[in-house]
Amino acid sequence: MSEHILALDLGTTSIRAMVVDAAAQPRSMSTRTNSLHYPGPGLIEQDPEDLWGKIVQAWQEALHEAQLQPGDICSIGITAQRSSLLIWDRQTLAPLTPIVSWQDLRGIKRAEELRARGQYVIHQQAASKLEAAIDSIANGRQRMNAGELAWGNVDTFAIARLTGGATHAMDLSQLSASGYFNYVGGLNEGLILEQGLDPSTFPRITDTSQDYGLTTAEAFGAEVMIGASIADQQSAMIAQGCTYVGQGKVTYGTSGTLDVNTGAEPKFSGGCYPMVLRNQGERIDYLLEGMVITAGAMFDWMSSGLGLMQNVHGTAALAATVPDSGGAFVLPALQGLGAPHGNPDQRALIGGLSRATTKAHVMRAAMEGVACRVREAMEQICTDVPELGRQDSLRVDGGASQNDVLMQVQANVLGIPVERHAVTEATALGAALCAGETAGHWDSNFGAELRRVDRVFEPQWSEDQREEFFTNWRRATVFES
Ligand code: G3P
Repeated sequence: MSEHILALDLGTTSIRAMVVDAAAQPRSMSTRTNSLHYPGPGLIEQDPEDLWGKIVQAWQEALHEAQLQPGDICSIGITAQRSSLLIWDRQTLAPLTPIVSWQDLRGIKRAEELRARGQYVIHQQAASKLEAAIDSIANGRQRMNAGELAWGNVDTFAIARLTGGATHAMDLSQLSASGYFNYVGGLNEGLILEQGLDPSTFPRITDTSQDYGLTTAEAFGAEVMIGASIADQQSAMIAQGCTYVGQGKVTYGTSGTLDVNTGAEPKFSGGCYPMVLRNQGERIDYLLEGMVITAGAMFDWMSSGLGLMQNVHGTAALAATVPDSGGAFVLPALQGLGAPHGNPDQRALIGGLSRATTKAHVMRAAMEGVACRVREAMEQICTDVPELGRQDSLRVDGGASQNDVLMQVQANVLGIPVERHAVTEATALGAALCAGETAGHWDSNFGAELRRVDRVFEPQWSEDQREEFFTNWRRATVFES
């Protein structure tokens, strides 16, 4: 009997498929870069068919590399970017809208209106954008409420496609990111009714690790159990073994996201808000999150958008050619400024430039900006989760954590060691762990046992240097006196 597990990580910037063996060791990984579209300022969309095509290519390549057939997989774990949304036809599974990205700012006004009516909705969440997406379809509301249409995040869509439409589901880690969670285990029906929608047409709430149904042979090439679905940041927490209160991690991907375990209690802190880490039966574990909305995306934009380099891969090497940023500073906020500022109208800043400034200085300044934003989020969360402040290191992962300059700057700015997970694609690994749990391979604490550190970055600055640097960055970027 096959013991291999396939994880599909449907990220913002890329799709990854990872095969792990019965000891949870990665055997192969394949990546496809997503094509994002920017139809106007603040707007970010993706073509669902393009996404699906890349998912298929990624798993086919990962299986090929591992010399496996689809039928050799015993359980599939899905993890995905959160709170992006799309609508499809339940019968044909044909998409009727583009994927509206979580980064897209079109929901700012609607979120404000909903908050004024007592609903906690922010513009990143699907709840601020779903109505507009439905109204973009002819007779959209009627068809949605008649059950002809389905909506979901990209995980929900992928599961629907894989199961031939049999499963329309979302676990609480994803639901809590969408804005439709009631913080006691179910849908926020008040919000759904306020929007003139029918809660019975929403995705069915599932446990994070459970049997989501079998893939069809037509979609996947064999009938295989989908054994888990979990939000991407939460998935990385599982792989990082963030199992007790106060333990957290930062994943450096498109965003740089700090998530801290808060146990059975949902906690708010400044602009940081709670989400479900995972749910199994009656048990719900929560996290508190602070997000640097543009982290890896800032380096990507500086490389290909601004044209400082041919592609993002050499950014660390470029930044390493200078010892500091030569007075340049960057506020990484291309899509608004997250916690603790919570200002969707803020845009990125690049300043402190002189005739001596080179592109290496500006790239390094972008890394410093991301590190300082992580410190801001951490300081905010420490006010409500003091256990976080007692951690003697920071666990990190994600594609951009491979950037040694960024990791060293992060350790310097925080004044604690930064420990990089041996599998930087911890997000995919976490989904594999959840799917392996359903297959009976191990239990939910396996991430903590399995975790290996690739490198520890020790802080190299004195306390005075660190505080002076952070204070100067804040003065320059967020106009603190
Ligand atoms: O909520 C969206 C977030 O989870 C995206 O993660 O890895 O694409 O920055 P990432």
